[in-house]
Amino acid sequence: MWSKMDNRQPLPAFGCFLFLSCILLYKAPSTSALSHNEASYIARRQLLTLPENGDLPEGFENTVKTTETFENERLRRAFIALQAWKKAMYSDPLNTTRNWFGSDVCSYKGVFCAQALDDPKLKVVAGVDLNHADIAGYFPVEMGLLTDIALLHLNSNRFCGIVPRSFSRLKIMYEFDISNNRFVGPFPEVVLTWSGAKYVDIRFNNFEGCIPPSIFEKDLDALFLNNNRFTCSIPETIGKSNVSVVTFANNKFSGCIPRSIGGMKRLNEIIMLNNELGGCFPQEIGLLENVTILDVSFNSFTGSLPQNLSSLKKLEILDISNNKLTGTVLEDVCKLPSLSNFTFSHNYFTEEPNACMSPERKNLVLDDTGNCVAGRMKQRLDHECQPVVSKPVDCSKDRCVVGSLPPKPNPPKPPVQAPPVVLSPPPPPPVPVHSPPPPPPVHSPPPPPPVQSPPPPVFSPPPPVHSPPPPVHSPPPPVHSPPPPVHSPPPPVVKLAPPPRVDIVLPPNIGFQYSSPPPPMFPGY
Ligand SMILES: *[C@@H]1O[C@H](CO)[C@@H](O)[C@H](O)[C@H]1NC(C)=O
Ligand SMILES: *[C@@H]1O[C@H](CO)[C@@H](O)[C@H](O)[C@H]1NC(C)=O
Ligand SMILES: *[C@@H]1O[C@H](CO)[C@@H](O)[C@H](O)[C@H]1NC(C)=O
Ligand SMILES: *[C@@H]1O[C@H](CO)[C@@H](O)[C@H](O)[C@H]1NC(C)=O
Ligand SMILES: *[C@@H]1O[C@H](CO)[C@@H](O)[C@H](O)[C@H]1NC(C)=O
Repeated sequence: MWSKMDNRQPLPAFGCFLFLSCILLYKAPSTSALSHNEASYIARRQLLTLPENGDLPEGFENTVKTTETFENERLRRAFIALQAWKKAMYSDPLNTTRNWFGSDVCSYKGVFCAQALDDPKLKVVAGVDLNHADIAGYFPVEMGLLTDIALLHLNSNRFCGIVPRSFSRLKIMYEFDISNNRFVGPFPEVVLTWSGAKYVDIRFNNFEGCIPPSIFEKDLDALFLNNNRFTCSIPETIGKSNVSVVTFANNKFSGCIPRSIGGMKRLNEIIMLNNELGGCFPQEIGLLENVTILDVSFNSFTGSLPQNLSSLKKLEILDISNNKLTGTVLEDVCKLPSLSNFTFSHNYFTEEPNACMSPERKNLVLDDTGNCVAGRMKQRLDHECQPVVSKPVDCSKDRCVVGSLPPKPNPPKPPVQAPPVVLSPPPPPPVPVHSPPPPPPVHSPPPPPPVQSPPPPVFSPPPPVHSPPPPVHSPPPPVHSPPPPVHSPPPPVVKLAPPPRVDIVLPPNIGFQYSSPPPPMFPGY
């Protein structure tokens, strides 16, 4: 039997806030919506069980009595964690966790065991995959006992509340996907404590506030932030980031594109669609020579296009539509060799070179509608164009472009994390596993303007830094096949990752396509 000491603590001050937001955010029910009462019930349960700072007391597992026998102590800890989690599940409509009882945690559906990285003789819980399980519930602090997991895939569920501080004990976390749930509160700071995290996907939740500048100082490969309620500017630290994919879309980010952006050495796709960004484009954008997808549509960018944009030789999809851009559409951009879709509609461009009207390449799609080009079809009316076109922004004086790199507009400092209490010997570096991003989930925040959609971002983790390779037997196919693009441009780059050197028994769907989700509101994001 599993039993737990009562560790109730007074409700922390931030708890009330989260509790309220949990209720308030559930106004717009989506497909399998929680009622207000259900959401508040779940939030209340999480908050009642959260110790003061959301962390676990030292040696917590010793206070929990279990009568089952376990192969090793780590599996017992995992059992405590998984049982606490199961108790924190309010609804499991597909009965996914039906077999989550008894000491054989490795047989639990969605739970995957492997040899411990730091001790090959030990079998431990190395990953949990409950993607698309539609489970409602919250994360109890006890989940911090899952210290051997490198992979947590929970996309398309209804988990609510916050990510507790105890998650900072999951030191070998490599892929963290909680996308398309109902998490609230600030950016989950625990992510910053994981030294080996590569893939962080928190899109389609209700996170709010600024994003911590230090997130871009983590060695992440992919960061999905889209469809939350983030505000503030994009931190200047972005220039230090090694991400190959980053999505800011459908939030309320404001300010300029940081000039530091040119420092992003591995950037492949960046999606800023539908925010409150503005100013002129910094010339440094031209340094992103390996970028294939650049989407800055539905913002308030002004001025003319920087000539440097034509340095993006690998660019395949460029969407600058629905801004306040003026001047000439650059001929050199329309001639970029890999470009297949250049959408610059709904701006205030007044000149369009021939190469942009009738592209020499048959497979280049251009959209120039809704501009101010004389003689072109479907342009804006004169009285719309005149006020903007007659007062062009001088980008050489624009705050986003001139002077030294602009100062950060006071992003709040992440709270200083006390070193988490170590429950087990520090594990070695991360496990090389990865899987496709989830299929584009559906969510129902207030609908932004109907928005076009580039293909789903490509995810290709670099080889993990790893010490002595443990024996490999039948690793999962390390191929990443993203969901099919919703339109037909260049096939997403599929890269082979080096074979994983640790055998993690992965869910069968990892490395393959996920089953198709309901049609997304913003395909791909
Ligand atoms: C889940 O289990 C309940 C009760 O055993 C049953 O009524 C329901 O049909 C099951 N649902 C699915 C999707 O299997
Ligand atoms: C990016 O990668 C380089 C080379 O692997 C590394 O030295 C650097 O620290 C990484 N940057 C960040 C922010 O992790
Ligand atoms: C672009 O990719 C090439 C080949 O992978 C690499 O050598 C180069 O350093 C990259 N450039 C930048 C700016 O990242
Ligand atoms: C932009 O392009 C101009 C001319 O090609 C070049 O002189 C300048 O250094 C570039 N600026 C940046 C920041 O890349
Ligand atoms: C080109 O991109 C736009 C916006 O990103 C999208 O709406 C459109 O469907 C794309 N066209 C093609 C033919 O892929």
